[in-house]
Amino acid sequence: MKIYNAKDYNDMSRKAANIISAQVIIKPDCVLGLATGSTPEGTYKQLVEWYEKGDLDFSKVRAVNLDEYKGLSKDNNQSYAYFMRKNLFDKVNIDLNNTYIPNGLEEDSKKECERYNNVIRALGGVDLQLLGIGGNGHIGFNEPGQAFEKETHCVELTQSTIDANARFFEDKELVPRYAYSMGIKSIMQAKSILLVASGKSKAEALYKAIYGEIVPSVPASILQLHNNVTIVADEDALSIIKEKGLL
Ligand code: GLP
Repeated sequence: MKIYNAKDYNDMSRKAANIISAQVIIKPDCVLGLATGSTPEGTYKQLVEWYEKGDLDFSKVRAVNLDEYKGLSKDNNQSYAYFMRKNLFDKVNIDLNNTYIPNGLEEDSKKECERYNNVIRALGGVDLQLLGIGGNGHIGFNEPGQAFEKETHCVELTQSTIDANARFFEDKELVPRYAYSMGIKSIMQAKSILLVASGKSKAEALYKAIYGEIVPSVPASILQLHNNVTIVADEDALSIIKEKGLL
């Protein structure tokens, strides 16, 4: 694992955007695995700026997102499909037909998960998978305790994730209880992984993910077994690792 220590959120965002840019430049028709949440927002903003300057071309890029809330339509402003359009897809020259995200309105979980696994396979796998990390160590919506061998599946969100994500909703009651998420197996099949983390609330999860035991109770710990993982984290997210003299 390569760990890059960013000064702050902006520095983290620029470093992460640089890594994604390099992927797009080296392989213009690459498959990017994309993530939502507040952590990658700055990364997307930076990519948009470089696109506007003429430094990046997304016309051949394919993008496949990690997850989506079950029950939300793509036009619901809390859906991850909406987030992706707002933060990236509507602002760069990516072809929307080359962007993929689970369909939150499909009630038949088995059908939707199979469809999404087939989408990922048909794309030939993910070249670079961007990940955030939940305060409880989750990646995508793979909550603690879930089997590592899963591909796309329907997840019952934990209370801590519902509480953490409630800040985006008008009312906590509106936070969906279920989500479709690529599984750990799908994530681990990406050729390379870029995890971004910012803030003290991620420090413990990040420490356990990188230096702890590889256990399903810390989903991100499985990343220790992947041979091409880059972590870009700011001072606060790295604070426990630094206190322990590990970096
Ligand atoms: C959600 C998303 C994750 C994300 C996590 C952390 O649960 N499904 O992909 O990593 O939130 O979000 P944030 O970056 O806002 O802390």
